Amino acid sequence: MTQPCIVITGITRRVGAWLAGHYLDKGWKVIGTHRRENHTLRELMARGLIAVKADLTEPGAGQATAEEIAQHTADVDVLVHNASLWFDDAACAADASKPLMMYRIHVQNPLELTEALNQHLPVLPQANGHASRMVVFLTDAHISRGDPDHIHYSASKAAVEGAIRSLALKYQPHTRINAIAPGLLMFHPHDSDEYRKQRLAERLLPFEPGPSVVGQTLDYLIDCPLINQAIIKLDSGHHAS
Ligand SMILES: NC(=O)c1ccc[n+]([C@@H]2O[C@H](COP(=O)([O-])OP(=O)(O)OC[C@H]3O[C@@H](n4cnc5c(N)ncnc54)[C@H](OP(=O)(O)O)[C@@H]3O)[C@@H](O)[C@H]2O)c1
Repeated sequence: MTQPCIVITGITRRVGAWLAGHYLDKGWKVIGTHRRENHTLRELMARGLIAVKADLTEPGAGQATAEEIAQHTADVDVLVHNASLWFDDAACAADASKPLMMYRIHVQNPLELTEALNQHLPVLPQANGHASRMVVFLTDAHISRGDPDHIHYSASKAAVEGAIRSLALKYQPHTRINAIAPGLLMFHPHDSDEYRKQRLAERLLPFEPGPSVVGQTLDYLIDCPLINQAIIKLDSGHHAS
């Protein structure tokens, strides 16, 4: 059996790092993009990760990243657009380049990387009608709930969710396009106890799930060949506010 290959953007920490480790454990070829170099990256590389350096806020980074990925593999089975920036609106008001950076990392470069990969490593329709590739975008459950402090961020994540149907039409029948839209997955170390309590109280299931729920969802999307154009919310259900 050939070794499946997954490409994950933004593997230096948290969800991206967890996913890279999960698919290395499963014996996949894992190609991960990174902007910075850190201890987590070096550990993953020691376990077999193929690292591709990319600043996904730079124009043309999607195209350049696809070209480099194509040097490391003949096939990509799964492409996960995970890399992200989370600037609030106050930061965007103080620095007008920040909304554009979020548009580039969440929308423009993922779309360009998806298209360039399709050109450099094309996938063919299969006789059984199954897709050979799946592209998954990490978006955000707050798109549908609203977030008055992260309007630029939400708009950029919503923009890429809005592209999912069109991409699935464009790349059918060889590629499936899906999204995972998490709510709170993990707190940051600097989050106060009060903030943690308040955020958990808003949830129907008041626990901090961590990154593994994204891996479980991605495994499900990989295993079930009929799921296409889906946006799977990972937010414990109804939100109180
Ligand atoms: N964690 C949550 O609770 C939550 C909730 C809703 C949605 N999500 C979504 O789930 C995904 C993973 O979340 P997370 O919390 O693990 O994200 P995160 O901690 O912010 O990590 C994002 C990754 O993006 C990379 N990145 C940042 N700027 C970059 C750039 N200019 N070029 C290339 N890579 C860059 C980071 O690499 P560097 O180390 O180089 O900065 C990092 O590896 C994201 O798409 C996020 O929007 C997460």
